[in-house]
Amino acid sequence: MSDQRVAFVTGASRGIGRAVAERLANDGRHVVLCSRSAAPLNDLAGTIEANGGAASVCACDVGDRDALSGAIEGVIKERGRLDILVNNAGITRDGLALRMSDDDWDEVIRVNLTSAFAAIRAAARPMMKQRFGRIVNVASTSGLVGNAGQANYAAAKAGLVGLTKTIARELGGKGITCNTVAPGFIQTDMTKDLPESVTAQVLSTMAVNRLGDPADIAAAIAYVTSDEAGFLTGQTIAVDGGLTMC
Ligand code: NAI
Repeated sequence: MSDQRVAFVTGASRGIGRAVAERLANDGRHVVLCSRSAAPLNDLAGTIEANGGAASVCACDVGDRDALSGAIEGVIKERGRLDILVNNAGITRDGLALRMSDDDWDEVIRVNLTSAFAAIRAAARPMMKQRFGRIVNVASTSGLVGNAGQANYAAAKAGLVGLTKTIARELGGKGITCNTVAPGFIQTDMTKDLPESVTAQVLSTMAVNRLGDPADIAAAIAYVTSDEAGFLTGQTIAVDGGLTMC
């Protein structure tokens, strides 16, 4: 079995997940790229390998918990280990709570929250055997302070914070840490269609006078998942340019 640490990153095809995957590969991890369709992941794996890194592809819908658990178990069988799990895949289905459809509620909870629970359960046993694991759940400042129009999303992201703390307590004695990284406003496909007035309003309440870049989040996750971060667990790190400071 290789000594190289293996990282499983969901939502790796673009945006924050892609930046995390590239950063972890640059830091010497073998990165397993997970997202719904294989094509963009194959392109990214090619880019990572061209830059001297190591990556493999695992296409899977994280909203299907059996498929996700099976995918993680497959990685463990194939690579003999799993050291780092980054639950990053996420979606929005915005709407005011009183008008939100049950489907929009269920879908956002399934993709953003239930998937993390399923992935953690699949990853935890091998991590316990290794007596090493780094789990990161990517939440959002919406889950910390709420956001009108995002009852489903904010509930899912706040749920990740509670899940993180519980997993940190349950697995801390086994060498496994679990933390939440909560991005603020980051320039990705998820935010590109927001009206300029919203962007300007967010900027006006931030301490750092710029929107975030996916690399800002990747840098935080690189540290939280590093070997040297073994004393950091159960925390929620808001990487948000000073938007919330809570
Ligand atoms: P994005 O929309 O650019 O990328 C989302 C990724 O998740 C894509 O790779 C997509 O294919 C994948 N994905 C979505 N549903 C999936 C499913 N069912 N199965 C497998 N993969 C799926 O989003 P972005 O901005 O990169 O967001 C990444 C994470 O960061 C999300 O959890 C999001 O909620 C969170 N976040 C983003 C913020 C932002 O300002 N962009 C702010 C706060 C949190």
